[in-house]
Amino acid sequence: MLKPKATSTPRHESGIYAHIIGWGMAVPDNIMTNDDISAIVETNDEWITTRTGIKERRIAGERESTTTLAHRAAQQALLVANVLPSGLDLIIVATSTPENAFPSTASLVQDRLGAVNAGAFDLSAACSGFVYALDMAAQAIRSGSITTALVIGAETMSRVLDWQDRSTCILFGDGAGAVVLQARTQKGGVLSSVLRSDGAGCDLLYIPTQNHSEAETRKLQKMVMIGSDVFKFANRVVDESIRQAVERAHLTLDDISLIVPHQANQRIIDSIAKKLKLDSSKFVSNLDRYGNTSAASIPIALCEAVQQGRVKADDYLVFVGFGGGLTWAACVVQWGAPAPIEPSRLTSSRRQAEYLLARIRARLQRWQRSISGLFRLLSLRRVRRWFARK
Ligand code: UT7
Repeated sequence: MLKPKATSTPRHESGIYAHIIGWGMAVPDNIMTNDDISAIVETNDEWITTRTGIKERRIAGERESTTTLAHRAAQQALLVANVLPSGLDLIIVATSTPENAFPSTASLVQDRLGAVNAGAFDLSAACSGFVYALDMAAQAIRSGSITTALVIGAETMSRVLDWQDRSTCILFGDGAGAVVLQARTQKGGVLSSVLRSDGAGCDLLYIPTQNHSEAETRKLQKMVMIGSDVFKFANRVVDESIRQAVERAHLTLDDISLIVPHQANQRIIDSIAKKLKLDSSKFVSNLDRYGNTSAASIPIALCEAVQQGRVKADDYLVFVGFGGGLTWAACVVQWGAPAPIEPSRLTSSRRQAEYLLARIRARLQRWQRSISGLFRLLSLRRVRRWFARK
């Protein structure tokens, strides 16, 4: 059922719509408070709270990584969606802190889930990554080329922070959020998107990798940010991108029930609300507890909003991200998902069986590779001996 108040949502030519049918999140247990940080760098709770709104953040433990957090969030999202890993066609992980340059973190998640029918890739658009990934997956669904996609934002920002730099290390945290998107003929789901980039601001927020020359690379793999310039950039572009996405969805700001912004700074969220003349209650904010989790912040905030009952069927939501690139992106989603269905025992058991099979399959493949490697080595030695005898 569509809300009558909207004049007309854009009709996608294929008649196929990409709906969010599952959601999940994962954060490390380990909490680092502002007081904990003030034992590391010269700062204090009062400065961090008044300048950012952040009170604490989660920090990944030794056995946690971008992949393990993404995997946990994905399992939750699949459970809510009542979808089996083998039912996924595509997995996209938006991240700035991938497990490796390659293979993609998405491929590692695909292996852990046992999503044997899915393609997988990582998407790099910094804190806008989740909105970019959602748009890419929605387009693939609407084109009819796939039916079901898993979109994840996952980060271990704590591993790329310079813990001597008080202007950045106080801001970020670790976590992951995921959604399952699925094709439906019912109007709704991801209705419109605006994706933008301004590479001229590439030096305002970045993490240098090995590909830089030594002279260029001050601190390899550590984040560099000119905070005040990024702050100004966000204030300049975010409200306009929301207006554009809403207009493209043939809606007005009055139709929007909830805005889920990237969780960078409470002052940025307040300023967007002011510019759009919207009440701050329309904005989801949880950065006091998690800090800035980059590409993970929007799906984590969405999950919490759903859990708190702030999202109802047919509501129009806006997701908006901004960050390194510079990049920014907004999209409008009509929430179409029914209340989470109690998965049948059969589906649950089958999902667990697929997870178990995934673990066994991965192990068997590794054994098989090492055994065939051993055989290759032995036969090579035999050939060498044969030549030596000649
Ligand atoms: O997720 C990607 C997008 N990222 C963002 O959106 C981040 C946007 N930027 C920001 O949120 C803010 O710029 C910050 C929170 C990073 C910084 O706040 P600010 O109000 O722009 O502060 P500032 O950088 O202009 O620094 C003001 C003062 C400086 O001291 P002086 O030069 O005025 O004496 C800093 O040295 O605050 C000092 N300062 C601190 N003092 C205590 C900077 N960091 C700290 C700190 N504790 N952690």
